[in-house]
Parts: sequence; structure tokens; C-alpha cells
Amino acid sequence: MEAGAASKAPYPDSNQARDPAVLSRGQPGSAPFSYAGYYFCNQEFIFHFTPGGRTPLDRRAIGVRYPDASNVARWAGAAGNRRCRGNTWFIPYETIQSRDKDRPHPATFPPRVPEYCVRLHGLSRTRVLMDPFLGLGSSALAAAELGIDFIGVEIDRHYLQEAVARTRSLIADR
Ligand SMILES: C[S@@+](CC[C@H](N)C(=O)[O-])C[C@H]1O[C@@H](n2cnc3c(N)ncnc32)[C@H](O)[C@@H]1O
Repeated sequence: MEAGAASKAPYPDSNQARDPAVLSRGQPGSAPFSYAGYYFCNQEFIFHFTPGGRTPLDRRAIGVRYPDASNVARWAGAAGNRRCRGNTWFIPYETIQSRDKDRPHPATFPPRVPEYCVRLHGLSRTRVLMDPFLGLGSSALAAAELGIDFIGVEIDRHYLQEAVARTRSLIADR
């Protein structure tokens, strides 16, 4: 561990892991109340890694606006009328009509997830985003929205074609 980093690192044995963010989401493809006796597990953990433990987070870049901003001048940390989103992000899926046509993959995440991760770690410092498990290309869509270069890897030809088509379509519509 680097000198000076000990008091800041949340995990004493490693200064490379950051507090995880929890992604809270609706379960894709599942109708409401389809399992009697169980809650849906609608959380996933997102782990941040930082070489050296000192990568700053731009929390305001994904901050939440105050519903009533009349009082925010009291808090220095509320400059720009944004508060930290905290470590639980509620990111719903886009509503779809047909799984086969609209989201033909069993395990995607909304493009907003990689978008938040990039913004949190600093958009201006990000040169390229890489997703080694591309699926339908949610990370590629986020990169296109953010205007950063992207590298994706996907073992399934059908998913890869979908990802490329979706990304091309988004770029063409901009
Ligand atoms: C959980 S999905 C990712 C979904 C993606 N995040 C999205 O939102 O569309 C994981 C993907 O990794 C792909 N995959 C699994 N093993 C792989 C490998 N060895 N190399 C490349 N892709 C792989 C699977 O085909 C699957 O599409």
C-alpha cells in the first residue's frame, strides 16, 4: 500500500477496490409478481478498481438534483444544486413490447450503467471504454452517447451483429 493511502483506502488489505455501488433495477423480462413467496433480486454490485487507491471520483457528474433548491446555499457540498447519488443507483430498464425483437438477450444492463461508471470516473480522463462481454452492446451505446472510443468483444456472432447494428443506428440518428 502506498504511503498516505492507508487512511483513505476502504479495504485495509487492498487499496485497489473501492466501495461497491449497488445497481438496483427491475428484473428484465419478468412479469410483476410471477414468483409467490419471493422478492425479485433486483440488485447487482458494481466494483470500482483504482490503481493506487487515489483515483478521484466525480460524484457530481452523476449527482441528483435537489427537488427544492431554495435552501442549497447552506451546504458548500451542494454547489451546482447536485448531491451525491450515493451507492445505490436505481436504473430501470426501458419498457419493451417484445423480448425477441426489442431485447433478444437474457442478461443485459441498461446503457445508463456504463454511462454512470464513466462519468463517475471522469469523462474528460476517459480515452477508451472496453467491454470484453459485449452482449447487445449497452456499453458501446454508452460510449457513442458520451463521444468516446470503444472496443467490444463478444463470442456470439448473433449478439455481436445486434450490438453493431444498434450502435450504428444510434450514431446515424444523432
Ligand atoms: C451478461 S452478457 C453481457 C450483456 C451486456 N452487458 C449487455 O448489456 O448487452 C455476457 C456476454 O458475454 C458473452 N461471452 C461469454 N463468454 C465470452 C468470451 N469468452 N468471450 C467473449 N464474449 C463472451 C456472452 O455471449 C454474453 O453475450
